[in-house]
Amino acid sequence: MKFICAKDYQEMSRKAASVIAAQVVLKPDSILGLATGSSPIGIYEQLVVWHRQGDLDFSQCSSFNLDEYRGLTADHDQSYHYFMHQHLFDAINIPAERIDLPDGAQMDAAAECARYDAAIAAAGGVDLQLLGMGLNGHIGFNEPDEVFSKGTHCVDLTTSTIEANKRFFASADDVPRQAYTMGVQTIMQARKILIIISGENKADIVREAFFGPITPQVPASILQLHPDVTVVADEAAFSKCRDLI
Ligand code: F6R
Repeated sequence: MKFICAKDYQEMSRKAASVIAAQVVLKPDSILGLATGSSPIGIYEQLVVWHRQGDLDFSQCSSFNLDEYRGLTADHDQSYHYFMHQHLFDAINIPAERIDLPDGAQMDAAAECARYDAAIAAAGGVDLQLLGMGLNGHIGFNEPDEVFSKGTHCVDLTTSTIEANKRFFASADDVPRQAYTMGVQTIMQARKILIIISGENKADIVREAFFGPITPQVPASILQLHPDVTVVADEAAFSKCRDLI
């Protein structure tokens, strides 16, 4: 694993955006795996700036997102479709037909998960997967479990994730109870992984995930086995593993 320490959120975002920009410049038809949440917003802002300056062309790229709430339509303002259009897709030139996310409006979970895995495989697999990490070490919506998950599947959200995400809804009752997510195996099949972490509240889980035992109780710990992972985090997130990086 390659560890890059940034001073703060802004520097983390710029350094991580550079990794994505390099990917797109070196392989213009890259298949990008994208994430939502608060961590990647600064990256998307930076990518939009570089695109507007004429330095970054997404016209040949394709994208697959990690996850989507089951039961929310694409036009719901808390859907991950909406988030991605708002923060990135509407401001760059990635063709609409090359954008894919799990369809939250499709209530047939088995059919939707099979469609999504088939679409990723047909595209040739993800070149660079961007990840954030939850306070409990989750990646995508893969929560701590007895085993590592495989392909795209439907999950019941844990109380801690519902609590963490309720800030975006009118109340905890409005947070959907299920989501579609790429599985841990899908994530591990990406050729490169870029994970970003910011903030002192994630310092314990950063140490556990990247320097502790590999266990499905800490889903991100499996990234230790991937041959090409870049961890970009700010000083606060790295504050409990200064002796290790
Ligand atoms: C989002 C996702 C989640 C988040 C994680 C961290 O697509 O898959 O795993 O990356 O919950 O969220 P933030 O960045 O809001 O701390």
